[in-house]
Amino acid sequence: MDFVQFSAQGNVGILTINRPAALNALNDQVIRELDAALDQIDRNVIRCVIVRGAGEKAFVAGADIGQMSTLSKQEGQAFGKLGNDVFRKLETLPIPTIAAVCGFALGGGCELAMSCDIRLASETAVFGQPEVGLGITPGFGGTQRMARLIGPGRAKELLYTARKVKAPEALAIGLVQAVYPVETLMDEAMKMAQRIAGNAPIAVRACKKAVNDGLQVDMDKAVEIEEALFGSCFETKDQRNAMTAFLEKRKADPFVNE
Ligand code: CAA
Repeated sequence: MDFVQFSAQGNVGILTINRPAALNALNDQVIRELDAALDQIDRNVIRCVIVRGAGEKAFVAGADIGQMSTLSKQEGQAFGKLGNDVFRKLETLPIPTIAAVCGFALGGGCELAMSCDIRLASETAVFGQPEVGLGITPGFGGTQRMARLIGPGRAKELLYTARKVKAPEALAIGLVQAVYPVETLMDEAMKMAQRIAGNAPIAVRACKKAVNDGLQVDMDKAVEIEEALFGSCFETKDQRNAMTAFLEKRKADPFVNE
């Protein structure tokens, strides 16, 4: 792949959008490579994925404006679908994901970060959906995920004004979960990823699915989703191991993902 790299450190995967000459902007090829990279992640080994952009200047500066500039209505819709399908794959990946956002996360970059489960930002991070300044709407889920993450009023203000949001404000409005100096962002993301990877993978995956699926339905159905996922954790080796260890007042054996 030319623009997307995947590497693993133990049970943690690192997915890098690597097109620094264009501030990691998402053209057709980058999006297709991201799709392929997601398909190739070994779900038996990788227990958490960090998504990052190459370099310190940008996480991702958006969809590729050069490529979009001449699209027809039909091509625009198809480009939106391409991005949406891949971002939805990322959002529903049965492995937790952390966006480590260093620098610009604009347009499709902000949307990529919002498709991850958790967002950690550098002090230099800048978020925003500048699309209306370019004569379009966000096209990779921004209108939907931003409203769900920070509430419709705040989301609409940011979408209509195309205003950029710096890291402290992103933290204050809940767009990101923590802010770190540039130099320590990846270490902190790795620490969090390793901590997640150290917990029972079946249970962690079930938490992700419960939150994601539960948010799409009413509370009666949502708690049923939780009940089914809660039940699915029982009789697993990891559940038996951890609860037996607790009762025997000893440390559980490492989780085996079974
Ligand atoms: N698409 C294509 N190329 C981009 C790009 C993008 N979104 N963002 C940056 N680049 C390219 C620039 O064209 C430039 O290339 P050249 O060196 O070949 O000229 C290179 O990256 C460096 O960028 P700048 O020279 O502009 O860097 P800067 O420091 O002056 O500014 C910036 C940085 C403020 C992020 C500025 O690049 C910028 O505003 N980028 C566009 C941000 C944007 O509007 N994103 C939303 C796109 S629309 C979208 O994403 C739709 C959707 O929802 C799917």
